[in-house]
Amino acid sequence: MKNMEMVLLSLLLIAVFGSTGKVAGENTNEEVMCIPMGNILLEPPEAVKAKKSPVDFPHSRHFVYDCKICHHQWEGDTQIQNCTTSACHDLEKSPTRFGKGKSNRELNLKYYKTAYHNLCIGCHKEMKMKNKQLEKSQVKLKTKLPATGPTGCIKCHPKQ
Ligand code: HEC
Ligand code: HEC
Ligand code: HEC
Repeated sequence: MKNMEMVLLSLLLIAVFGSTGKVAGENTNEEVMCIPMGNILLEPPEAVKAKKSPVDFPHSRHFVYDCKICHHQWEGDTQIQNCTTSACHDLEKSPTRFGKGKSNRELNLKYYKTAYHNLCIGCHKEMKMKNKQLEKSQVKLKTKLPATGPTGCIKCHPKQ
């Protein structure tokens, strides 16, 4: 009988929450955000003539991380913007003059390619370094070293 009770209880819960959920959705103007699961194809902005193939980015495999590592301007209650949104990483060419000041670093990060490379390759490299350190240390590992992401050009931009 225990099983039967469980089934009935779940049906009741579905009935209660399922219906109230629907009513709330109909009566409010709450915005819905669609989160792309699986892979996202990352391409340069339209004005740029691509030298490399687009990047097949496994978005959901990165969900072990805090969304805000990448969506660093996201407040949590707004829509997530594209990385190349105006006033974000919207420079389509590398700024030519590099100085040493902070403003130049900021300017350089506005170039979408630098932003992507810093973020993506930066984390993958750091993980590789940490794995190397673990390997070098004499500590006996109980588990396999964690998988890292690619750092070589053709791993992200496969030959066309
Ligand atoms: C490792 C980096 C990374 C992490 C972590 C990450 N995302 Fe993303 N996400 C991206 C990139 C890159 C794009 C593509 C942005 C673009 O096209 O400019 C994207 C796109 C999106 C979009 C679509 C935005 C649009 O263009 O309309 C949504 C929504 C989103 N992510 C939600 C999330 C949520 C929620 C999480 C946490 C569970 C998350 N992301 C974690 C990198 C990441
Ligand atoms: C905070 C760390 C972090 C950031 C930021 C990050 N990655 Fe990764 N990435 C990883 C890890 C860890 C893996 C391995 C996960 C796995 O194999 O399940 C991975 C895996 C990948 C893979 C899969 C390679 C394969 O074996 O199939 C690709 C491609 C990739 N990342 C691209 C990107 C791109 C493009 C960005 C930037 C938009 C990015 N990553 C940002 C940590 C990161
Ligand atoms: C972790 C993934 C990753 C690695 C590794 C990587 N890139 Fe990229 N790269 C990107 C992403 C994401 C973009 C932005 C989307 C785009 O423009 O294709 C980009 C953009 C570019 C662009 C500008 C767009 C174009 O096609 O002209 C060039 C050039 C480029 N990368 C060259 C390289 C070279 C050379 C290497 C090796 C030294 C490299 N990338 C390694 C992810 C990566």
